[in-house]
Amino acid sequence: MKNYGIVLAAGKGKRMGSKISKQFLDLNGKPLFFYALEAFENSDVDSVIVVCSAEYKDYCENVLSIYKEEKTFSKVEKIVVGGAERYNSVYNALKEISDADYVLIHDGARPMITKDIINRSLSEVKKHKACVVAVPVKDTIKEADSEDYINKTLDRSSLWQMQTPQSFEYKLIAQAYENAMKSDLSAITDDAMVLEEYDPSFKIKLVMGDYKNLKVTTSEDLEIAKVFLKS
Ligand code: CTP
Ligand code: MG
Repeated sequence: MKNYGIVLAAGKGKRMGSKISKQFLDLNGKPLFFYALEAFENSDVDSVIVVCSAEYKDYCENVLSIYKEEKTFSKVEKIVVGGAERYNSVYNALKEISDADYVLIHDGARPMITKDIINRSLSEVKKHKACVVAVPVKDTIKEADSEDYINKTLDRSSLWQMQTPQSFEYKLIAQAYENAMKSDLSAITDDAMVLEEYDPSFKIKLVMGDYKNLKVTTSEDLEIAKVFLKS
């Protein structure tokens, strides 16, 4: 049995608007994506693939080779160049793997991920073949029309907010992505959706995440992450 963590760090961070892509910004003394790498290092995952853009490949190779030697990130096996969209980056990573039983796909922009959530994902994916970390929605969610008038209120008791890792049997998600790459992917926002499209009858298990496992998207998220990580 071999399982991989895929840590996605190939985004541009347009909504953050910083000069350096958000995943490489300093967060309490370390590059933001290091926190996810640390959680994977301390987890039961065997190997880690880091996905970054061509622009940051040298930087990632340099910094990660130092930390690999120091055994800080001993599990990092490969650095793969990502693509224009998140799904291109995931697809590029999946293509680089041949010997995996399970893959745990994680946003490098979620620094508050813990080894416990990763280990829980790993044990659930072995039971269900597909599982995603998520939390129940706390706010009331409404559907709006194109002119911003309320259409209806959705039933909150059945709504969950997706996080990562999203974990899958490797063969299953590789096939689903292979299939998805042939069609229009513009609506795809997470990995579970790729499998939902491929096999609508497939039952994807939800794994309880943590409200702290937020994705750093805008500058206020960075401030929140600083506070969370200090406590
Ligand atoms: N990601 C990636 N490759 C892309 C786009 C995103 O690896 N082409 C990664 C990001 O680095 C991040 C995660 O996917 O860790 C979630 O994406 P998001 O928060 O949307 O990050 P960005 O795309 O970088 O941000 P923005 O959408 O604001 O540009
Ligand atoms: Mg994005």
